[in-house]
Amino acid sequence: MKLLIKSIILMTLSFIITGCSVRNQEQSKQQSVENLLASMTLEEKVGQMTQIDFSVFGAQAPKGDDLIDQGKLEEALLKYHIGSILNTPSTPNNKAQTLQTWRKIMQTIKSVTAQSRLKIPVIYGIDAIHGATYIQNSTLFPQAINMAATFNPDLSVKEGEITARELRVAGLQWNFSPVMDIGRQPLWPRLWETYGEDVHLASVFGSAYIKGYQGDDFSSPDKGLTCLKHYVGYSYPFNGKDRTPAWISERMLREYFLPSFEAGIKAGAPTIMINSSEVDGIPGHANYHYLTTILRGELGFKGFTVSDWEDIKRLYTRDKLAASPKEAVKIAVMAGVDMSMVPSDFSFYELLLQLAQSGEVPMTRIDEAVTRILNVKFQAGLFDQQQTVPLTAEGNFATPEALEINQQAARESIVLAKNDHNILPLKKDARILVTGPTANLLSVLNGGWTFTWQGDDESLYPSDKLTVLKALQKKSTGKVTYVGGTAFADRIDIKKAVESAKNQDIIILCLGEKPYTEVLGNIDTLNLDQAQLDLANALLATGKPVILVTIGGRPRVITAQAEQAKAVILGFLPGMEGGEAIADIIYGDYNPNGKLPISYPRNTNDIVLYDHKPIEALEPNAYRPLYPFGHGLSYSHFETSDLAVEKDTYAMDESINLSVTVKNTGHLKGKEAVLVYINDVAASVTRPNKQLKAFKKVDLNPGQAEKLNFTLTPRDLSFIGVDLKRMVEPGEFKVLVGNETVVFTVKN
Ligand code: GLC
Repeated sequence: MKLLIKSIILMTLSFIITGCSVRNQEQSKQQSVENLLASMTLEEKVGQMTQIDFSVFGAQAPKGDDLIDQGKLEEALLKYHIGSILNTPSTPNNKAQTLQTWRKIMQTIKSVTAQSRLKIPVIYGIDAIHGATYIQNSTLFPQAINMAATFNPDLSVKEGEITARELRVAGLQWNFSPVMDIGRQPLWPRLWETYGEDVHLASVFGSAYIKGYQGDDFSSPDKGLTCLKHYVGYSYPFNGKDRTPAWISERMLREYFLPSFEAGIKAGAPTIMINSSEVDGIPGHANYHYLTTILRGELGFKGFTVSDWEDIKRLYTRDKLAASPKEAVKIAVMAGVDMSMVPSDFSFYELLLQLAQSGEVPMTRIDEAVTRILNVKFQAGLFDQQQTVPLTAEGNFATPEALEINQQAARESIVLAKNDHNILPLKKDARILVTGPTANLLSVLNGGWTFTWQGDDESLYPSDKLTVLKALQKKSTGKVTYVGGTAFADRIDIKKAVESAKNQDIIILCLGEKPYTEVLGNIDTLNLDQAQLDLANALLATGKPVILVTIGGRPRVITAQAEQAKAVILGFLPGMEGGEAIADIIYGDYNPNGKLPISYPRNTNDIVLYDHKPIEALEPNAYRPLYPFGHGLSYSHFETSDLAVEKDTYAMDESINLSVTVKNTGHLKGKEAVLVYINDVAASVTRPNKQLKAFKKVDLNPGQAEKLNFTLTPRDLSFIGVDLKRMVEPGEFKVLVGNETVVFTVKN
């Protein structure tokens, strides 16, 4: 007994000591920031709020890996006191660099910083949105839309861990990721950078990524810091084109677009990048209500905000909101922008200096922004890393374990949407014709932000990774015939393809999109270009069985072709291992289990999402996508049953426990994600017919069943009320899983 009491006392003491030491650490960091701030000149403070692109000091004629113009770098860091840099060297055109080049860049920046008066470390930001995209030979994962299709957030944790580690090997740590925008406009050219149309799914996946990337302490040698983007409402342009007006009511904003950022802040992201576009006529960078009242006042965000590319200047040059470049700086800083991604000159520094000297921007606002930035630099351990060397590559970069996780993520992200008469999987000795613009390219599997901004330079992709065609050729024991080009735009000889089809058992037709991001990906219709449709229709007319594979960032309309095809595989952007993953599924080396994180539209103007309102569920407008949110087939079969909630009635503040049994009723081992939806039967604001509130993925042998337990919280039942405040209303709720529905009542 005495021993027990002694150990309890010791444990309690250790908790108190630990708690104190954490608090002391926080206090000492706070003290350091205050002391440092007090010692800074106005110029040094304004420099901390200024972020420039690498190109400002990039060598004009680089020799080897000597990419920096030393004089220009010294001017930036010593004369303008620049606090942040972004992007990969743009020689030639934003090409990925080797580890040693990155290490040299980071070391050179540190050595110049060491010559400055206060030696405040630079924080270097990079777009590593599906792995370390600007480091050669890194692990490049499926894009976010595909990670969501896995319905397996553990993979997102692992993606975060691996990406942070590989960046730290290069000396980098601040990643402009995850995108927490909700993908509810399929025309938008950055849909694929989101986790899809659902708030819960995006919140879970974004938080998982942050957990993996940051761990418990993002100053750890193998961790880094994330950046939630693009706050807020960027992903819903009315006409589907990037950086065009969004019209989002406050209620819709709070119901659909704020919650994922709230989740990311709760998950500990210390930086937020701002929406480049405008919502309700207010540019993101000028929106005090969003940037200060909501972000700081309601969501309690303590980190710093960074502008998106050149978006403060654009308040003058594009939005005509500011009457001058100086007024643009004033509007943005006073709205709540802490750091300006200028990024190509020192104009922000010069103009903010003038505004501070004239008192138009008060020192209190400058100090507030600089304090936030310094806090994050301290939390990231940057002050302690001036001397430390980057993580060793051995065991941390492009490891076999990372490759395995990437292969798994690619496989789990592929959606088998149709499989008539179980035509798939194919026998490996089948005679197949492979054709279509996405059959034999790696760039189409990866999309934008891959080695270059647009990701479309095929010559930069590694020769040892497999396109869909090469992966099929590797696995096949039969004859594989390819009719197609070597570039996406190459015209495919339809006559030759049709001729070849006559001698084949099966046609694998790979359609879709070339890589793109941002405005360069704007389109006028989700319909595919005529050349692809002509090829598809000619091959379907042969009467040979067609396996339709689509690859690309958006759900392009394939209705007529999909209805004639015997099977449909939706690949989206499965990353560097995606070609092999698709071949694994076609030949049955992997049992598919991906599910759609978006609704796949039947027509380009028939954009109704799964969480539509009752008024959208009435014939003839009913929700009738080609493939619904959550759809995805397996080579096995799964059934759910015995859905039950613990009680019939709950108090307003009670959590709801429910259970459901899932069984593998097929003949193959497989994975299945079980999705739990709710419907608030009647409320003072119209409620969606169903909303995803929980999901679990299981791996079951044939005949195996598993009982799954879920707990819904009052927050899961809540919505944005008439008064724009989140609330739960008493009344009846339905729980929907598979083809079962149960009800419960919430009572005051
Ligand atoms: C771009 C993108 C943003 C990216 C930033 C830095 O304009 O909107 O997602 O992080 O610039 O490259």
